Amino acid sequence: MALLFRSSVDSAARWRGELTRLTAELDIRLWPDIGDPAEIEYALVWRPEPGLLASLPNLKLILSLGAGVDHILCDPHLPGGVPIVRLVDPYLNDAMGEYVALQVLRLHRQDLDYLAQQRSGIWRELPQKNACDRPVGILGFGEIGQNAGRKLAALGFPVAGWGRRRRTVSGFQTYAGPEGLCQLLRRSEILVCLLPLTPDTEGILCARNFAALPPGASLVNVGRGGHLVEEDLIPALDRGQLSAAALDVFREEPLPPGHPFWRHPRILVTPHIAGITNPKTAAPIILDSIRRFEAGRPLLNEVDPAQGY
Ligand code: GLV
Repeated sequence: MALLFRSSVDSAARWRGELTRLTAELDIRLWPDIGDPAEIEYALVWRPEPGLLASLPNLKLILSLGAGVDHILCDPHLPGGVPIVRLVDPYLNDAMGEYVALQVLRLHRQDLDYLAQQRSGIWRELPQKNACDRPVGILGFGEIGQNAGRKLAALGFPVAGWGRRRRTVSGFQTYAGPEGLCQLLRRSEILVCLLPLTPDTEGILCARNFAALPPGASLVNVGRGGHLVEEDLIPALDRGQLSAAALDVFREEPLPPGHPFWRHPRILVTPHIAGITNPKTAAPIILDSIRRFEAGRPLLNEVDPAQGY
């Protein structure tokens, strides 16, 4: 069984090491040394170049190296009818939850202000709310969103979640649809985006929705760069409508050197590291998908391309 590995960010050596430790059955081909394309049945990919998957005539299954699959679905030549599986790794969910908790705490505890004070040698106490008075809203309340929600709730924040479909999640207020979005925005002093990127969610972090948040609210974007209307953010920050933003994802990655987000005093930038796929925990999950497929058993976490996730 030949598997193509293609990623510009994940370590091919580590992935090959983990997969070969688990099985001798896979013939792992590291892009661009793919050998005979007709032999490749499985593709394990992050942002494959458009047309790569279509050039594999006997491809049976596409496995995403990340939880999101927009990096695969955006390929205009994506071969129809080949199932796609997204990566659902509980350790990756935890890592995302940790990142969200970290940034929510930094925003809640005014870390940017204290860092600025430190740089100027200023010793000054700022007024501080309690966590129970800082409602957090999470856009995207699937497994990752709920994991982040539980971590934040344990810290004392009132957490609510929003999604396309209504979900009942024990212990959390949930909202759905356009009406629910307005309700969630109105109550969220910190807004966290963990949505999948789809035509419906693209640009959801925009001036109109910022205006619906309480004045001085802040933002954490861990979804995709395409969720944020970049040109709306800096004016909202400069007016004080938003007080700060922690961004892990960007329309263009790496974030270009001259981009204004790098130096804005109210923006925290991290290089798409909220959830780094770890081959040690993810390789057994990938192998399980391949074994399920080979045995004709139902796949877990199969993507519905029509929904975009
Ligand atoms: C990372 O961005 C992922 O989709 O897992």
